[in-house]
Amino acid sequence: MLPAYVPNNAAVLLGGGRPIDAGRTLEDARVLGDGKTWRGAAAGTLAGITLALALNGIAPAVVTATGLVLPTFPPAAIVALPLGAILGDTLASFLKRRTGRSRGAAFPGLDQLDFLLGALALTALAATAWFTATFTPGVLAVVLVLTPLFHVTANVVAYRAGLKSEPW
Ligand code: CTP
Ligand code: MG
Repeated sequence: MLPAYVPNNAAVLLGGGRPIDAGRTLEDARVLGDGKTWRGAAAGTLAGITLALALNGIAPAVVTATGLVLPTFPPAAIVALPLGAILGDTLASFLKRRTGRSRGAAFPGLDQLDFLLGALALTALAATAWFTATFTPGVLAVVLVLTPLFHVTANVVAYRAGLKSEPW
């Protein structure tokens, strides 16, 4: 899941600049808001792709050293996991603006799952055979429970470190 986790963090660290919605509004609210930028989306996606390639690179050595059975990422999943995470996060901002929440407002549940559902959905579409072989029901259950916990922890750490203006 790491290629789906790192895009949000990379966007926080490297994002900013021109907003994706270019300031446009829809029914008196921003389409996405200033928190969704081209640079954040591009840096996040590239960071996830880079990490997936690195994990593919070290997988044989890790398997030899530990005996663990590790998946490697096919090209479609290398792109779909991070791009899906960014699209999920962007879609969540669209929904937050449509429900009257301003930039940075919390949307419990959606904030913790948007990127995960985006990553899983796009990967299921783009790399279907790999997705079904890798994300067995047990793996999916663990991922759906642990990801929100990781997300909450990472955001509290980023908030305390002064990288994010809200702890969610
Ligand atoms: N970020 C970015 N581009 C993205 C996603 C995030 O530049 N595509 C940066 C922005 O600086 C953003 C920060 O990362 O403020 C935190 O991301 P997030 O919590 O997703 O955005 P919010 O500012 O909270 O806005 P929203 O309410 O739309 O989630
Ligand atoms: Mg936010």
